Amino acid sequence: VSPLRLGIAGLGTVGIGTVRIVQEHAALIAARTGRAVTISAVCARDPRKNRDADLSGYAWESDAVALAIRPDVDVFVELMGGHEGAAKAATEAALKAGKDVVTANKALLAHHGQALAELAEGAGRVIRFEAAVAGGIPVIKTLTEGLAGNAIRRVMGVMNGTCNYILTRMESAGLPYETVFEEARQLGYLEADPTLDVGGIDAGHKLAILAAIAFGTKVSFAGVTLEGIQKISIDDIRRADDMGYKIKLLGVAQMTGRGLEQRMMPCLVPAASPLGQLQGGTNMVVLEGDAVGQIVLRGPGAGAGPTASAVMADVIDLARGVRLPVFGQPATTLAEPEVAVTSTP
Ligand code: NAP
Ligand code: HSE
Repeated sequence: VSPLRLGIAGLGTVGIGTVRIVQEHAALIAARTGRAVTISAVCARDPRKNRDADLSGYAWESDAVALAIRPDVDVFVELMGGHEGAAKAATEAALKAGKDVVTANKALLAHHGQALAELAEGAGRVIRFEAAVAGGIPVIKTLTEGLAGNAIRRVMGVMNGTCNYILTRMESAGLPYETVFEEARQLGYLEADPTLDVGGIDAGHKLAILAAIAFGTKVSFAGVTLEGIQKISIDDIRRADDMGYKIKLLGVAQMTGRGLEQRMMPCLVPAASPLGQLQGGTNMVVLEGDAVGQIVLRGPGAGAGPTASAVMADVIDLARGVRLPVFGQPATTLAEPEVAVTSTP
C-alpha cells in the first residue's frame, strides 16, 4: 500500500507538534492504518528559524500554495492560521488540485467553511478540522460519529482556554482583569490579537462550526451573539460567588422555534456544576442528544500535543480511507440558517 504523503504548511506550535507525532508514532500509525504516513514537504515564513525538530528529510517550499499543489502531496495540512491570505489561498488551491485538507484553523472555517466545503465536495475531496474546536477534545468526531443516531438538542461549552484562565485566576488570586490579562500575555497564552480571545471571537468561531455540524446548517459566524470578558470585574466574580455561581465565557447553540440561536457571552453557571468547576485553560463541551441525554467532554483546548493529537486523528482517518463528508453531511444539502436569531439570555 502506498504511503499517505503530507504537505505541512505552518511549523509553529501545532505544526511542529504534528511533525513530532508523525515521526515518533510512525510504527504505531502504520500498524493502526495498514499504511505509512509520511511528510513530503513543509513550509513556513522563515526558513532560517530554529524549529527544534528534525526537518532534514523534507523538501522545503517557500510558498504555501506551491506546497499545496505538489504532486508528492496527498493531504495538505494547513497550520498557518488567519482567515484570509495564505491559509485561504493554499486551502483552495489544494482542493482544486485534488488534495484532501486537514486544518486547525477555526477562523478560516468560521468565515469560509461553507465555500470551502462546497469546493471540496465539487472536487470529490474532504476538508477535516477536528483540531479547530476545543483542541485535543475529539468533539467533532463525537458529534458526527458517536452521536450520529441522535437529534442534537443543544451544544454548549467553554471553548476558549485563555478566557477561562483569566476568569479563574481573577477569582483564585483576587486580582483585577487588567493584571491577569497582562499575566496571560507574559505567559504567552494570548493570541497575537488578544481581542480574538477576550472579545469572545475565537470562541464564537468554534461555536459557529459546532452549531453547523450539530444542526445541519451552513456555518454562520455572523449569527453568533458575541460578548467578551473585558468588562468582567473582580466584584462581578465575588457577587456571583456569593450567590453560588461562577462566571464563564459560555457558548450555547440550540434550535428554537424561531431558528438557530448561537450565543457566546459571559454567563452565570452553578458553582457546583461541571462547568462551574472548570479551572484554568481547560475546555469543556456539553452535548445534548435526544436519545443519549447529556455528554460532557473535558480536556486541553490548546497546546502543541493536544492540538496535534486532533490533527493526527483526521490524518489517520484519511489514511484508513474514512472520508466522511464535511460538516457530517454533503455541503450542498446544508440548510441556510437564515432564521438565525440573536437574543440575550
Ligand atoms: P504559530 O505558532 O503562530 O505558527 C504559525 C506558523 O505558520 C509559523 O510556522 C509561521 O511561520 C507559519 N506561517 C504564517 N504565515 C505563513 C505564510 N504566509 N506562509 C507560510 N507559513 C506561514 O500558530 P499555531 O499556534 O501553531 O496555530 C496554527 C493554527 O492552529 C491556527 O489556525 C490556530 O488558530 C490553530 N490552533 C492553534 C492552537 C494552539 O494551541 N496553538 C489550538 C487550536 C488551533 P514562521 O514560523 O516562519 O513565522
Ligand atoms: N486562544 C485559544 C484559546 C487557542 O485560548 O483557547 C486554542 O484555540
